[in-house]
Amino acid sequence: MSSTNLRILLKARPQGRPGPEHFQRAEEPRPAPQQGEVLVRHRFLSLDPYMRGRMSDAPSYAAPVALGAVMEGECVGEVVESRHPGFTAGDWVRGARGWQQWSAAHGSTLVKLPRQVGVSPSAYLGVLGMPGTTAWIGTTEILQPRPGECFVVSAASGAVGGVAGQIAKHMGARVVGIAGGAEKCRFVTGERGFDACVDHRGDLATALDEACPSGIDCYFENVGGAVQAAVFPRLREFGRIAFCGMVAEYNQIPAPPGPNLMALVRKRLRLQGFLVNDHPRAWKQWGETGATLLRDGRLRFREDVVQGLENAPEAFAGLLEGRNFGKLVVAL
Ligand SMILES: NC(=O)c1ccc[n+]([C@@H]2O[C@H](COP(=O)([O-])OP(=O)(O)OC[C@H]3O[C@@H](n4cnc5c(N)ncnc54)[C@H](OP(=O)(O)O)[C@@H]3O)[C@@H](O)[C@H]2O)c1
Repeated sequence: MSSTNLRILLKARPQGRPGPEHFQRAEEPRPAPQQGEVLVRHRFLSLDPYMRGRMSDAPSYAAPVALGAVMEGECVGEVVESRHPGFTAGDWVRGARGWQQWSAAHGSTLVKLPRQVGVSPSAYLGVLGMPGTTAWIGTTEILQPRPGECFVVSAASGAVGGVAGQIAKHMGARVVGIAGGAEKCRFVTGERGFDACVDHRGDLATALDEACPSGIDCYFENVGGAVQAAVFPRLREFGRIAFCGMVAEYNQIPAPPGPNLMALVRKRLRLQGFLVNDHPRAWKQWGETGATLLRDGRLRFREDVVQGLENAPEAFAGLLEGRNFGKLVVAL
């Protein structure tokens, strides 16, 4: 058993694609656990798209990794020595212990893994861990696919996408994956059991039309970029999107022009389209409430009154250019 702890430190912040030049190897003696700590031999490290964000000091939902610090990451490993009452040598644990071979972690920062015959401990970094849980939330809480609906998920051969599609299939949806290349697509329909899978490296728009002839009810967004652009116009009425991530854009600095929809994930925003005519009861409710507020002087309004029907076309053109000031009406 090695007495050295190899660590990978963040050396520089990548401006585009991260490469070896942004990291630095460092070796130090294996740590010794203090009272309450557990010495863990890391056996698996999870690599996840979110790490790209940690390498950057742009505003985000989590603090960046400091330059010179060990890169963040989740590990599973074996307890070699325990000075915490909750753990004994031989236990398997999971924790955010970083890109390194060993760590001395306080017991409260570790989760003890159940022993499951036939399941590799690495599964607790994927299908039974953070990505699997992400797939579960996005599918069952946000998208809630109904039987027969068309459920599309991007990065479908990946950690999150593969699980999301399978959950949707169990819920009775028709599941279409999007993946890069024929081999991944074959895997998605074969091993993962999706109904169809389209290759985003080909003519994605045509392939989506063929795979989703009636449109898309649910989209589990993992990728953004060109894939999002192709899916978006194919969403059906009352469709839902679960914005999980936009991995295709993580290396793009500055971010592509236009509203950066990754803010939906970072700030947990909710987008919901609606049409007033879907809410007939609201007309009566507001009619009464608004009239009361007006009568009491607690509601003000302004009108921009254009005289003469003949001026309507020009007034309307002005409306689309911001020339009106207040509610535009034509006095006939
Ligand atoms: N919101 C959350 O709490 C949360 C939690 C976990 C993960 N996520 C997000 O979920 C997404 C998937 O994560 P994962 O862990 O499951 O990763 P993953 O799917 O295992 O790996 C990333 C995949 O993204 C696809 N991809 C990368 N660049 C692309 C591009 N330019 N265009 C199209 N596809 C591209 C690739 O698949 P193809 O070769 O098939 O294109 C790649 O294999 C990421 O956006 C991640 O940030 C969010």
